[in-house]
Amino acid sequence: MKPDDFEYLARLLRRRSGIVLGQPRPAHIENRLAPVMRRFGFKDVGALVAELRHGRDALARAATEALTTNESSFFRDRAAFDLFRDRVLPAIVERRAGTKRLRLWCAACAAGQEAYSIAMMLDDLKLPQKGWSVDLIATDINSEMIARAEQGLYSHFEVQRGLPIRRLVDHFLQEGQNWRISEPLRRMVTFRPFNLLDSFGWLDDLDVVFCRNVLMYLDPKAKAGVLDKIAEVLVPDGYLLLGPVETPTGLSAAFAAVAGAPGLYSPRVDEGPALARVARR
Ligand SMILES: C[S@@+](CC[C@H](N)C(=O)[O-])C[C@H]1O[C@@H](n2cnc3c(N)ncnc32)[C@H](O)[C@@H]1O
Repeated sequence: MKPDDFEYLARLLRRRSGIVLGQPRPAHIENRLAPVMRRFGFKDVGALVAELRHGRDALARAATEALTTNESSFFRDRAAFDLFRDRVLPAIVERRAGTKRLRLWCAACAAGQEAYSIAMMLDDLKLPQKGWSVDLIATDINSEMIARAEQGLYSHFEVQRGLPIRRLVDHFLQEGQNWRISEPLRRMVTFRPFNLLDSFGWLDDLDVVFCRNVLMYLDPKAKAGVLDKIAEVLVPDGYLLLGPVETPTGLSAAFAAVAGAPGLYSPRVDEGPALARVARR
């Protein structure tokens, strides 16, 4: 791949998703773009980039999506899910006992493993049976990942990574070599494609936001923008969960770390967005 073409792809990806491509790894990039080249009929990356330079939006979107890293697994970073079960859920369920309404967002859900892990933990509480309304929204920039998540079909390898056998038995049905998420769990999650660089105007009053293992790929300006927008859609006593190598420190003053809970943050109520939301309530 010509250095010029690499530079062009890196700029495109950064502009459209905030993702920093890092070190040029031509074989890796060509591999990722191979399905796009096949779909749009290009013989190599050079031909694809030449067409991108003409500004074809569908092609630019497909190339951007293909260059995302969609690595995920059920109950990834187990400690985060233990925190969610033991700290976040009890606190938020107690605080919402009056309204019996919970809203959660999984902000970069890849093929759905994280969203279904959250759904399994919510299902343990049987809230709808107790008259609660629970919204679990899951989004990702990659529309192919969202289609996969909606299908809820996982390989044997995927369910073996992190999913306790009890949960496999309770929430999946075997289909040949694969496992399909059960219909009740599937119905708990609303999936839709969404770019974190876009306006969060359609989201509000969220009690818990999972934004894990995505900020680590973004440039500092994009990270800061995403964090500030999350602060605007999170309720003042809500929670944000980030991945183990992610932190708002130095990027956004809108969040404070929850003591003794790595990766867990709450809005700073003396800061702009949360303060404005308290005033509106
Ligand atoms: C490594 S996966 C993490 C998945 C899951 N959150 C986890 O922790 O296992 C990162 C996901 O972020 C998505 N992503 C990257 N940039 C994004 C953006 N600008 N908007 C929305 N999703 C994005 C990718 O498509 C990918 O599926």
